[in-house]
Amino acid sequence: MRAVQIDRFGSLDVLGLVSASPPEPKDGEVLVRTVATSLNPVDVKTREGVFGETTPLPATLGWDLAGIVVEGARSGLRTGDRVIAMSHQLADGRGTWADLVAVPARAVAPAPAAASLMEAATLPLAGLTALQSLDWLGLSAGQRLLVTGAGGAVGGNALQIARARGIEVDALVSRDEQVAPALEHGAGTATADRRELRSRAYDAVFDTFGAFTTEAVADGGRYLSVATQAGPIPDLSSRGVETVVNQVREDGAGLRELARLVDDGSLRPRVHAVFGLGEIRAAHERLQGGGLNGKIVVVF
Ligand SMILES: NC(=O)c1ccc[n+]([C@@H]2O[C@H](COP(=O)([O-])OP(=O)(O)OC[C@H]3O[C@@H](n4cnc5c(N)ncnc54)[C@H](OP(=O)(O)O)[C@@H]3O)[C@@H](O)[C@H]2O)c1
Repeated sequence: MRAVQIDRFGSLDVLGLVSASPPEPKDGEVLVRTVATSLNPVDVKTREGVFGETTPLPATLGWDLAGIVVEGARSGLRTGDRVIAMSHQLADGRGTWADLVAVPARAVAPAPAAASLMEAATLPLAGLTALQSLDWLGLSAGQRLLVTGAGGAVGGNALQIARARGIEVDALVSRDEQVAPALEHGAGTATADRRELRSRAYDAVFDTFGAFTTEAVADGGRYLSVATQAGPIPDLSSRGVETVVNQVREDGAGLRELARLVDDGSLRPRVHAVFGLGEIRAAHERLQGGGLNGKIVVVF
């Protein structure tokens, strides 16, 4: 089968399309034929060697998976079912950029009926990060949330899921062009100028790029960052603000929730551009170029 692997760290040219042995599913694993995947910032960082020794080489890259079940084991999934999954590539080395992927049944869910597999491939990593982070923030309908980096993949999902939960959400984006999409995704207000943010006005802040807009959170609130590379959040305990740098985890139940939100029209997958598997270097280059309004999808 085909797989995108690296055998060393570096720039685009370390990405190779190789012939690899198909996985043999272990007990409790579902074998999926990949139809589409999408790119995430972590894939670029892994390729560049940011995580160094923790990535054994050669490594198949990729976290997102949308495809068709080949073998469902005892998961309740049947051969031919359309599914989505997130594989924690860094933790277990199981990359999804391969024709066949064996994933634990607990990390798989039926794909949304209302989206193509190409669109569904945008959901797993960015969607689960948004969903699990919002769960930690624990806001109720009517409470106020600020999402930073709201024009990005995680931020765009966070806006839409927050809106579906009745949360009053505002957006900090990086560029003026992202203001209109942020408003469309549910932000009450959106700005590219952090000086416009209201002070201590939010019950929670969901920080997707390390903005550290700590003045925006109200005393007694919660501040969550997923920008691990930006380092720890300043200590806000003197103001009674609880903080966390959140790490996404495999979560079939969360994927079911995302699929339900897509099917009821609350969550719209966003595709910026589609590449073929043989164009994986161009796909990486496009992601690194920035200025995206949606995800980079790769089809098999
Ligand atoms: N901890 C975890 O488990 C976890 C999980 C998923 C993602 N992440 C991390 O979370 C981050 C966001 O992921 P993503 O998939 O949403 O990435 P993305 O789609 O690239 O979105 C990032 C967004 O942040 C904006 N941004 C970046 N730097 C900025 C700055 N200095 N000022 C203002 N805006 C800025 C970008 O704007 P432009 O479009 O203008 O560049 C973009 O809209 C990445 O660093 C990723 O590695 C962590």
